[in-house]
Amino acid sequence: MLLKIVLGFLCGLRALAKENTTAQQSAPPLLLVSFDGFRADYLQRFPMPNLKLLYSQGVLVEQLTNVFITKTFPNHYSLVTGLYAESHGILASSMYDPISKKHFHTYNDTDPMWWSQAQPLWITALDLGYKTAAMMWPGSDVTIRNKTATHFFPYDSKVTFQQRLGNVTKWMVGNEKEPGVKFAALYWEEPDHTGHKFGPDNTTAMGKALKEVDDNIGLLISELKRTGLWGHVNVLITSDHGMAQCSAERLIRLDDCLHPDNYTLVDLTPVAALIPNKDPDKVFELLSKCHNHMTAYLKKDIPDRLHYRNNERIQPIILIADEGWTIVQRGNKLPRLGDHGYDNSLPSMHPFLAAMGPSFRQGYRTSSLQSVDIYPLMCHLLSVRPQPNNGTLNHARCLLADETCWDVPLVIGLVVGVLLVLSTITVLFRLLSYRHSLGSRPFQRLQIDDDDDTLLE
Ligand SMILES: *[C@@H]1O[C@H](CO)[C@@H](O)[C@H](O)[C@H]1NC(C)=O
Ligand SMILES: *[C@@H]1O[C@H](CO)[C@@H](O)[C@H](O)[C@H]1NC(C)=O
Ligand SMILES: *[C@@H]1O[C@H](CO)[C@@H](O)[C@H](O)[C@H]1NC(C)=O
Ligand SMILES: *[C@@H]1O[C@H](CO)[C@@H](O)[C@H](O)[C@H]1NC(C)=O
Ligand SMILES: *[C@@H]1O[C@H](CO)[C@@H](O)[C@H](O)[C@H]1NC(C)=O
Ligand SMILES: *[C@@H]1O[C@H](CO)[C@@H](O)[C@H](O)[C@H]1NC(C)=O
Ligand SMILES: *[C@@H]1O[C@H](CO)[C@@H](O)[C@H](O)[C@H]1NC(C)=O
Ligand SMILES: [Zn+2]
Repeated sequence: MLLKIVLGFLCGLRALAKENTTAQQSAPPLLLVSFDGFRADYLQRFPMPNLKLLYSQGVLVEQLTNVFITKTFPNHYSLVTGLYAESHGILASSMYDPISKKHFHTYNDTDPMWWSQAQPLWITALDLGYKTAAMMWPGSDVTIRNKTATHFFPYDSKVTFQQRLGNVTKWMVGNEKEPGVKFAALYWEEPDHTGHKFGPDNTTAMGKALKEVDDNIGLLISELKRTGLWGHVNVLITSDHGMAQCSAERLIRLDDCLHPDNYTLVDLTPVAALIPNKDPDKVFELLSKCHNHMTAYLKKDIPDRLHYRNNERIQPIILIADEGWTIVQRGNKLPRLGDHGYDNSLPSMHPFLAAMGPSFRQGYRTSSLQSVDIYPLMCHLLSVRPQPNNGTLNHARCLLADETCWDVPLVIGLVVGVLLVLSTITVLFRLLSYRHSLGSRPFQRLQIDDDDDTLLE
């Protein structure tokens, strides 16, 4: 018995060691690309020939359920940690931390304290001995747990997609002195920028922006082919959130409900975060009656399904605008024709996922996945032990070439098929025995009468 345990333990150890040497060395490199604000239905509304070429040789998840709030920083950090915003601590574009009394803005984001509640994949993979890269992905230039990716660029809108891509592929190829990176995350700010400026319903403006995005995907494919990486790396193309059309007819003016002296504003729209200055009950009451296209929540009452409550950086009151509505403090000016941040159950807030490479099935399509499931999928692809997270690898198994996949429609099809065959056999059998009894049994009339009775009921 003891011998068995010891042997089992040794086998386990050997498997672990083997995992580090063979599985990890042989894991294909992984390139994760985000096109900011790529709403899932753009894929149906616009041609996107290069993107379609890519997923026709790989997989497509038509809609990703992302995390609340459906903003850029929270969702990019969820993609590389597998955590809901309340668990990774990047809760909005503007935050206030009541413990340190610090403020966070996306243009002033490099204080490590904001990011240290989680660990992005480029750090976890680094700890295993891999080289990694983060090209302008939110958090790229932040020292998290005293580390950054091996290679990174801080955000700079002046660096073109081609320049970002050129640096990433160079890092992935490596050189005599240094092996190529195993994991690289690459960020591009379109179609988000155009979506905000003109609104997702403007087909002319979005058509032009998405043509450029698709040209960039074409560039990505040809650059991977040129460097010999194509077919040897796994490529994930995804996004952080979608976009909703806003309008000057859909404004919610907070000043119509209470004077701004009564609260401190941390974030405004479409999810407002505020701290009542005094008399919190009265402030909450006024805000909850403020507008019928805005819902006010005391922190403790924020619905479970949003996973947006258990963090000190969530303020005492949050206000959530309905899809396409904009919260303003004073005046009547609409800040943007398109916006996101709304409830993550809205299809307009969902992005998509396309993937191709040696580990993926070819020509497979599925309707949905949670965006937090992408992290365990990437860890699996890299043979990296995932940090604690809110995703499930099982949900993404169907995308993989080497996995047995219990596809729900397939299982239903099989069960229905088996039932059909069984009932056909039963009917045939009954028919045969009926015929048989027709010839030999004296009670046949009686049986037919019985059947007639049931028919009449
Ligand atoms: C940036 O944020 C830090 C705290 O996180 C703050 O001390 C500093 O004043 C901010 N700088 C700007 C320019 O807002
Ligand atoms: C895996 O390899 C890295 C370096 O290549 C090493 O630091 C790490 O300890 C190894 N892990 C295991 C479990 O052997
Ligand atoms: C980071 O490094 C500093 C010294 O360089 C050290 O004092 C500190 O404990 C380190 N922090 C972590 C989280 O490892
Ligand atoms: C890397 O980016 C810089 C811009 O920061 C650019 O000048 C350079 O050409 C890029 N390198 C490659 C190989 O594309
Ligand atoms: C749509 O966008 C174009 C720019 O691409 C702009 O010229 C036009 O005015 C916009 N149309 C509407 C209805 O906003
Ligand atoms: C809100 O602020 C105004 C102006 O400072 C003040 O008169 C009013 O009493 C405040 N109301 C509440 C509920 O605090
Ligand atoms: C998400 O994962 C973190 C880390 O394991 C955990 O602390 C948290 O409770 C999880 N959240 C939910 C809703 O399960
Ligand atoms: Zn974004």
